[in-house]
Amino acid sequence: MHFIDLDAQQARIRPVLERRIAAVLRHGRYIMGPEVRELEERLAAFCGARYCLGCASGSAALDLALLAWGLGPGDAVLTTALSFIATAESIARTGATPVFVDIDRHFNLNASHLEQALAALEKGDPSLHPLPRQAVEGRLRPRAIIAVDLFGRPAEYVEILRVARAHGLKVLEDAAQGFGGRYREQALCACGCDVATTSFFPAKPLGCYGDGGAVFTDDAALAALIDSLRYHGRIDADHKNENVRLGMNGRLDTLQAAILLAKLDIFAQELDERQEVAARWGRLLAHVPGLDLPAPPPAPGRSTWAQYSVLLPAGTDRAALAAQLALEGIPTAVNYPKGLHTQKAFAALGYAPGDFPVTRDVTARVLSLPMHPYLDAATQERVAEALRAALARQHQGE
Ligand SMILES: Cc1ncc(COP(=O)(O)O)c(C=O)c1O
Repeated sequence: MHFIDLDAQQARIRPVLERRIAAVLRHGRYIMGPEVRELEERLAAFCGARYCLGCASGSAALDLALLAWGLGPGDAVLTTALSFIATAESIARTGATPVFVDIDRHFNLNASHLEQALAALEKGDPSLHPLPRQAVEGRLRPRAIIAVDLFGRPAEYVEILRVARAHGLKVLEDAAQGFGGRYREQALCACGCDVATTSFFPAKPLGCYGDGGAVFTDDAALAALIDSLRYHGRIDADHKNENVRLGMNGRLDTLQAAILLAKLDIFAQELDERQEVAARWGRLLAHVPGLDLPAPPPAPGRSTWAQYSVLLPAGTDRAALAAQLALEGIPTAVNYPKGLHTQKAFAALGYAPGDFPVTRDVTARVLSLPMHPYLDAATQERVAEALRAALARQHQGE
């Protein structure tokens, strides 16, 4: 059993993939070839953003957006305590300081805690909200918020944008797991934030066969700046060796764009199939005592279900449970075992493990089940039964 079945997907699109790859091998424009532009146009149209720029990875997309905003030492960027490390790493790499905020019951940045974090930052007072050491020792200037559509579920953008606008902050949507989802009526990556980023890491809902990512924005000046930054700060495409700012090699390569074009042909259909698989998980797992299941966002919102992550009953030995399932051929994953504030990489911020109680609870109990568009009912029934039996064995006599 696959956790994510890329083989089934490949079998479905193999002829188109081969045609697309062969076309690149024929024209040989491996960097910024025509497929990159074609993909950017199709991705922008898919979500309704004005500009899309292909990037080397989801991490590079984050770096480019923050670089374009000119963040640096003395700046604070507020973000969720539960995400993949890249979200916060990108903040720290600019020299700015990540300020973590706890999650809500849907695994996303708790918008109502944002206000408290900003009040605490303003006063340098950690009794109002946990703060990094640097914000207590000297004042940090809040500049931006990074919200993440964790597991594909949209964050609460109306609330997040309200707080951001009231405080003059920019908002970046990290939709590495969310591209293809919908927040209310709007597609993710085009739901009102100043900029959005996504990842095409192979395991993502829209993944390539290597590293890739993209930035989305409606802001023409920002798009032009990121276009320059991803190509070492060149002035424009006609003057490759006129570098007017410090940038990076942040480009998406043509072969990955060609692969993504083949996958994009079936992406809308795959997203519908993901909804069916997630709904089936919901029905099957409703009968497993003690599990907390992820709720879909209210319609017309939609998750991409990049992960289907359940919370195990308190007191479950998660490692033993996962080992038992693995013995039965069922792969699982823990996304994520640690809050970002407890990562050694951020030890200098001086956070305590208990600073964000919801994150702490989720990281102790979360377990992700196989999730992809090709998961059939019989397999899901087998997993649900194996999970029920393994949990019953662990908790019998309680
Ligand atoms: C929420 C989040 N942000 C950023 C990234 C970074 O993307 P990439 O692995 O393409 O650099 C990922 C992907 O792993 C992610 O899940």
